[in-house]
Amino acid sequence: MTGSTSSAPDRRSGAPRLTRADLDALPNYVPGRSPADLARELGLPEAIKLASNEVPYGLLPGVAEAVTEAVTEAHRYPDMGVLALRSALAERYGVDAERIATGCGSVALAEHLVRATCLPGDEVVYSWRSFEAYPIIAATSGATSVRVPNDAGHGHDLAAMAAAVTDRTRLIFVCNPNNPTGTSLRRAELDRFLGTVPDDVLVVLDEAYREFVTDPEVPDGLVTYGDRPNVVVLRTLSKAWGLAGLRIGFLVGQPEVAATVRKVVTPFSASLAAQAGALAALAEADEMRRRCALVVAERDRMIEALRKRLPAGPAGAGGAGSGGVPESQANFVWLPLGDASVPFAQACEARGIIVRPFAGEGVRVTIGTPAENDAFLAAADSVL
Ligand SMILES: Cc1ncc(COP(=O)(O)O)c(C=O)c1O
Repeated sequence: MTGSTSSAPDRRSGAPRLTRADLDALPNYVPGRSPADLARELGLPEAIKLASNEVPYGLLPGVAEAVTEAVTEAHRYPDMGVLALRSALAERYGVDAERIATGCGSVALAEHLVRATCLPGDEVVYSWRSFEAYPIIAATSGATSVRVPNDAGHGHDLAAMAAAVTDRTRLIFVCNPNNPTGTSLRRAELDRFLGTVPDDVLVVLDEAYREFVTDPEVPDGLVTYGDRPNVVVLRTLSKAWGLAGLRIGFLVGQPEVAATVRKVVTPFSASLAAQAGALAALAEADEMRRRCALVVAERDRMIEALRKRLPAGPAGAGGAGSGGVPESQANFVWLPLGDASVPFAQACEARGIIVRPFAGEGVRVTIGTPAENDAFLAAADSVL
């Protein structure tokens, strides 16, 4: 047996093809780099990771104990119906548990939703640039991606997205706030957009960053659109709730949609630890909100500081010329550095700070602790 450590397909000439040819060109999902590895490489006591939109304040109280207790039963399968967690979510969000499906992170639910709606050749519409998993999910499901370029302010161009809907469209992702640009859609424009979408097209409102939204005009999808038959709201416990490593997310949709997704979900993908950790985290909503408020205060400070360093310039000039640093309602900020994005991220990395570049477009910087953000600003000062 030969092994390859590369993620590139190993295509020896003459060997029969065992996997789909169309997947060769698919980009890999890029995880944030490990800070421990970088620190080792640079000979630093530690490195700072501002690349994966995690909250920097550790587990919520009681989560570690609940997980430790739960895993004493880990020789048994977890509850496949995820009943206790679904009822806790139902109670917290004021919806019927039948309308909830859980998954191995909300990214898995996004994939299940595409599988539940699309046959090969059906179309999935989304804004671009947005969450990097959308094109991967569409392609692996055999659906066709229809990417609608972001508007000049780095947000969704809803009019163009509405115009991109055809009779092959089955699903539309609306990422609010948008990853990686942090921009968000307001109630009036979303109302208008949803009014144009045909009844048989599912709109997936991906609200992974909902808990960081402070603009009252940015609607809570569950409250405002929860009862629209063709809307599904996606949420995660990875961000504000601090459970990225346990892998648990949920959706709220109409009972038939949620039931279909529960059929599509890989059996037992909500592990014993994830279910117990999520239940314990949900009991700490006040502490979650307190931590989000710290993140929001730091986000606003970072945006102000970064706008001074990257003032808006003439559109199309690249870098600071791409309109400056956009408003963010999430726990990250977007630096539209254009071609300077990768060199900027590399220079930050050389100073022990991991950020996330999108080549030729911009750099996404997660909001960390005040000290981490200061370290990033100092690095940015020496790089810019
Ligand atoms: C917009 C968006 N949706 C979904 C996810 C998936 O989160 P998870 O699978 O950890 O729940 C992410 C993660 O970065 C995201 O940014």
